[in-house]
Amino acid sequence: MNKLIVKKTGDGSSTIHNTKLDENYHSTYGALQEAVHVFIENGLKKSISDFNINKRLNILEVGFGTGLNCYLSLQYAISNKQNISYTGVESSPLELDVIHQLDYKLSKEEKVLFKKLHLSNWGDSVHISPYFKFFKQNIKFQNFVSKSKFDVIYFDAFGPRVENFLWHINIFNQCFQLLNNNGSFVTYCAKGQVRRDLISSGFEVERLPGPPGKREMLRAIKKIK
Ligand SMILES: C[S@@+](CC[C@H](N)C(=O)[O-])C[C@H]1O[C@@H](n2cnc3c(N)ncnc32)[C@H](O)[C@@H]1O
Repeated sequence: MNKLIVKKTGDGSSTIHNTKLDENYHSTYGALQEAVHVFIENGLKKSISDFNINKRLNILEVGFGTGLNCYLSLQYAISNKQNISYTGVESSPLELDVIHQLDYKLSKEEKVLFKKLHLSNWGDSVHISPYFKFFKQNIKFQNFVSKSKFDVIYFDAFGPRVENFLWHINIFNQCFQLLNNNGSFVTYCAKGQVRRDLISSGFEVERLPGPPGKREMLRAIKKIK
């Protein structure tokens, strides 16, 4: 039987352990640290600074999970008055009783916003703040289609050991098609085969220093010459 166990990581923030897959939702060295480093610093912020983005930023997350990356993006949108449209794709949404056990070191007001993300309906587009348009879809990413394109993809699926089919060239081709020119794909995974398959899909790939406890992460850019 699958059990989801909420546990503490190295930086004091929570993650979830999926007993059936024997896999964690985040790095055990620090869930919050990892999310900030991989997705906010090297995804969202780096895209804005490298490509001088001064329009609405369109973000897609593969594996919405606990909503941590989404919440941190919301926080950025509000603090920086940056318009963001955020789409979260998730095949197995978490129950609210599990979400309520998570500790992301949020103040009372921040918890209200975090809850809003989880209480919004799957399949409905809502404004969580005037700066943050949010849409979450309960679907397998393999079946996800979109009329709009994205500036950043947070690729936060379970690792290749567990879900090898998601770290496959077909999925990277799908990501490439979903991105705007200069769009970026960021992930915590730095496996050589993943890097080579991203390159085969047409991306320019860089290895960046990973979050505490992990040597490297990957950032792939869609550049059309
Ligand atoms: C590493 S955890 C996600 C962490 C999440 N971003 C967070 O901050 O909590 C991977 C997530 O991907 C979801 N997932 C697994 N396979 C998927 C698929 N084929 N399509 C969409 N989501 C998937 C899992 O259910 C899980 O929530």
